[in-house]
Amino acid sequence: MTTPFTIERIADFVGQRVTVKGWLYQSTPKGKLLFLRLRDGTGITQAVAYRPEVGDELFEMLAHLGQESSLMVTGTVRANDRAPGTPKGFEIGIEEVEVLQNAVDYPITPKEHGVEFLMDNRHLWLRSSQQWAIMRVRTTIKRAIVDFLDNNGFLNIDTPIITPSAAEGTSNLFEVQYFEDKAYLAQTGQLYNEANIMAFGKVYCFGPTFRAEKSKTRRHLAEFWMVEPEMAFHDLDDLMALEEQFVSYIVQTTLEKRGPELELLNRDVAALRNVTPPFPRISYDEAIERLHAIRAATDDPKLKDDLAIEWGDDFGSPHETELTKQFDKPVFVHGYPTAVKAFYMEPWPGRPEVCKSVDLLAPEGYGEIIGGSERMSDPDVLLAAIRRHELPEANYQWYIDLRRFGSVPHSGFGLGLERTVAWICGIDHIRQTSPFPRTLSRLTP
Ligand code: 4AD
Ligand code: MG
Repeated sequence: MTTPFTIERIADFVGQRVTVKGWLYQSTPKGKLLFLRLRDGTGITQAVAYRPEVGDELFEMLAHLGQESSLMVTGTVRANDRAPGTPKGFEIGIEEVEVLQNAVDYPITPKEHGVEFLMDNRHLWLRSSQQWAIMRVRTTIKRAIVDFLDNNGFLNIDTPIITPSAAEGTSNLFEVQYFEDKAYLAQTGQLYNEANIMAFGKVYCFGPTFRAEKSKTRRHLAEFWMVEPEMAFHDLDDLMALEEQFVSYIVQTTLEKRGPELELLNRDVAALRNVTPPFPRISYDEAIERLHAIRAATDDPKLKDDLAIEWGDDFGSPHETELTKQFDKPVFVHGYPTAVKAFYMEPWPGRPEVCKSVDLLAPEGYGEIIGGSERMSDPDVLLAAIRRHELPEANYQWYIDLRRFGSVPHSGFGLGLERTVAWICGIDHIRQTSPFPRTLSRLTP
C-alpha cells in the first residue's frame, strides 16, 4: 500500500501532485496571489493560488472562504525556503479545489481572545496551531514514557479507578456513590502497584487520577494523568537513579521527535538539551537553608513574604520556583518532614521526623513533576502510621498484608503527565496541556 499524502510528510512529495484534505486556517490575498494556510491534522502548510493560472472564478471563491472551511486542495508541491508552516519550507501550487463546507463566522479569529473565551470554545481552540503543537508533544511524551518502561523490564498492570479509601490525604477526594456504599475516584494507583510488585517485580500503571483540588493554581487539575512505576528491592538511591534516566529519556526523545512543534511554541530547547543524568540531589534540610539565604538576600518585599518558611513546612510554589532557579537541570529534594507527606513513606533511619521521600522539581520555575518514596516495609510501623493518620484500619488490612508475607524494601514514584508537558512545552498554565481540562471552575465542554 502506498502511504497517502499528509502535510507532515510533505518533504517526501516535492515535485508531485498531491491532494490535501483539510481545513482553511488563514487566507492572505496579495495582488494576483492568494496564500492559503491549510491544516490537515498532521501539519500546516501554505497553498498558493495564482489568479492567471486558476482563473477568476476559483480565485474569487477561494478569496471569500471562511476560516475553518473544509476543503480538498490539489496541486504540486514545491520547496520554498521562505514558506511558513509546520514543517516549513514547502508550498503547494493550487490547481483544483473542492470545498466540502464553507464555514461562516468561526469564533476564534487570529485576534487576541481572553482565556475564558478560549476555554469555553476548547472544542474549537484545539485546532489552533499552539494547542495542536502541545497535544502532539503530549502524545510523544506518553509514548516515550511507555517505551522507556516497557524496555526496562516493567510490566504495565492496571489499577482500579473506583477505590474504597484514600492514599494521598482525605481533603481532595472525589466521592462517588457505589451501590449502597461510598467510594472515591483514585488519587493514585500506588497502593495496588505495591501489591502488584510482590507478584511481578517491577510494574507501572498509567492513567487518569482525580483530585478535588479546591484552589485555583497554574499547576493543578482535578483530573490528570499520572504514570506510576513501582519496584521491589529498590531503595531511595535506586529510585533517584531510575527517575533521572527516565526523565532524561522523555525529554531527549521529545526533542528528537517534536522539533517543529517545539519551535512553533517558541520553546528554548537549549535548556532541555541539558536534561541528562546525573541530576543534582539536595536534602530538605539543605533546601530550607538555601531558601533562608535567598530570602535574606532579596530586597523585594513580596518575595520576602512569599518565601517565609520554617523547618517542617511544606514548600509552596514560590519556594520551588526560587529553589529551582539555582539549578539548570531538574533537582531532587529528598528527606521531607514526615508530617507533610503521605502515611506510607519509610522513616529515615535514626530520624523519624524525616521520611525517605523524594520530589523531583523541574527547572525554569515549573516545580514538582514527580513525587516518590521508599515505602514502609514493617507491618507494625505501617499500622502505627495508619492509626496516626486516623485512616479506617479495616480498609488497609490487605495493604498491611503485603508487609506480612514476604516484605521487601521497595520504592516508586508518580510523574504528572500534564505538568511534564507544561514544562517541556514551556507554557505557563497547566490547563492548556489537557485536551479538555477539568478544574475547580470548569467541567465543560
Ligand atoms: O506527589 P503526588 O501526590 O504523589 C503520589 O500520588 C504518589 N502516590 C505517587 C507514587 O509514588 N506512586 O503526585 C505525583 C505527581 C506530582 O508530582 C505532580 O506531577 C502530579 O502527580 N500531580 C498533579 N498534576 C496535576 N494536577 C494535580 N492536581 C496534581 N496532583 C499531583
Ligand atoms: Mg507531591
